[in-house]
Amino acid sequence: MQLTAVALLVAFSAGGIVVAMKETGICEIGVIGLGVMGRGLAANIVRNGFSVAGFDRGGVTADGMEKHGIVVHSSLKQLVAALASPCRIFLMVPAGEPVDRLIDQLTPLLSAGDIIIDCGNSHFRDTERRQEKLTGTKISLIGMGVSGGEKGVLSGPSLMPGGDRIAFEAIKPVLQKIAAVADQDNKPCVSYIGPGSAGHFVKMVHNGIEYAEMQLIGECYDFMRKGMGFSASQISEVLADWNKADEASFLIDVSRTVLAAIDPVTGQSLVDLIVDRAGQKGTGSWTSQCALELGVGVPTITAAVDVRIMSSRKSERMQAAKLWGDRQKRLSGDAQTLLNGLRSSLFAGRIIAFAQGINLLQLASREYAYNLDICNILSIWRAGCILRSPLLQILAGLLVNKEKNLLLIPEIEKILSPRTSRLRQIVSMAAQNAIPLAAMASTLAYIDSMTSASLPANLVQAQRDCFGAHGFERFDLPGILHGKWQD
Ligand code: 6PG
Repeated sequence: MQLTAVALLVAFSAGGIVVAMKETGICEIGVIGLGVMGRGLAANIVRNGFSVAGFDRGGVTADGMEKHGIVVHSSLKQLVAALASPCRIFLMVPAGEPVDRLIDQLTPLLSAGDIIIDCGNSHFRDTERRQEKLTGTKISLIGMGVSGGEKGVLSGPSLMPGGDRIAFEAIKPVLQKIAAVADQDNKPCVSYIGPGSAGHFVKMVHNGIEYAEMQLIGECYDFMRKGMGFSASQISEVLADWNKADEASFLIDVSRTVLAAIDPVTGQSLVDLIVDRAGQKGTGSWTSQCALELGVGVPTITAAVDVRIMSSRKSERMQAAKLWGDRQKRLSGDAQTLLNGLRSSLFAGRIIAFAQGINLLQLASREYAYNLDICNILSIWRAGCILRSPLLQILAGLLVNKEKNLLLIPEIEKILSPRTSRLRQIVSMAAQNAIPLAAMASTLAYIDSMTSASLPANLVQAQRDCFGAHGFERFDLPGILHGKWQD
């Protein structure tokens, strides 16, 4: 690899970024993809004292990047030539085909020991396939979950790197500098997640939980809007009140903010003008698919995915609404009691979404030999990421035994039991008034199922045996048995 003398030393001063020549004359980090997220990450790296060489296929010009201290190159070849050895290149491009294309183009330009860090929401199977393909080249691919959105990447995201341990150690000093820092212990929100695709797997589950929390908040909004006649700005005030102490969360805060926004042209709440069709890039569905494959129930997460899918069928829903008529009535009862119930239901739902996600991580850790440290994962979600909330610190503290189901922890039972009673009231009230609370109802059924000593699976076993001779076990006899079923 040819080295050039075009690196910059960047120091941070009160007035902004100061750019100066670096003694070694070579750039420490490469960033490919200089869209909003890539530019933010590159600026974060620069701010933390590392020189950055950038490249963007869309033709981002050097002009726009200078103020961030990023040296933009016009080809991949130039970019690689500008980097110190071993090359450390962050890919900030959309998941899927662009990642494959870039890896294929970079491979002939790189040497053994160089490291590519894929920061997109890549499917963990794709990461495995790419790592496998690179095996002979000795170029490492780190699959890194990056959470925090546009602001987070710039100011400090939560980072979930997985792959080759030695390659991780080579990028660790950079990651530790650019990651968010948890207030509780000043630790950076990054650590080695595990081998192979572990980083992208954990990010996928993070997103599944993110879908669930967003849907649970959405259901609170719908309940207040349809059942209590609250306006968007009133709901924003309620969420501001809930967003305190242990029950606070970044997503509640985001929801409070968007519900308070007014459209400057119409003067109406902006949220009321937004079409109720939710998009998705896939990570939530992958979480559900993967949970099904591994035999883990994640119904709160799956309900959130299902509702996004159903929301996209807007015209069908509108036709059906005409045919079926309006069944959504205003709820009777004391408003404060309803709000207290809703607040408890949201907290219970959030805990259960984590319980399901953690359960999936526990199983995947065994099945895929990731050897995940779940407490550590919860710790690196405490700041920077979309799931950040005081709940993470509580759960990390309680989950001392990383193999334990959250529902088996006495402190969790104490938190959830009273809230489950309120959740039951909220779900039944909503059901009677045709207000769909899919994630909350799934949460309740999950709690009731997972805390039931008996389920009707005995009848299912008998049915299976009756029509298909699939066999069953008995409490009082050993082995797999068959019944003598009559017509
Ligand atoms: C994050 C987010 C982010 C994700 C968006 C959109 O942690 O910063 O998870 O990575 O891409 O939230 O995801 P959907 O388009 O699937 O809703």
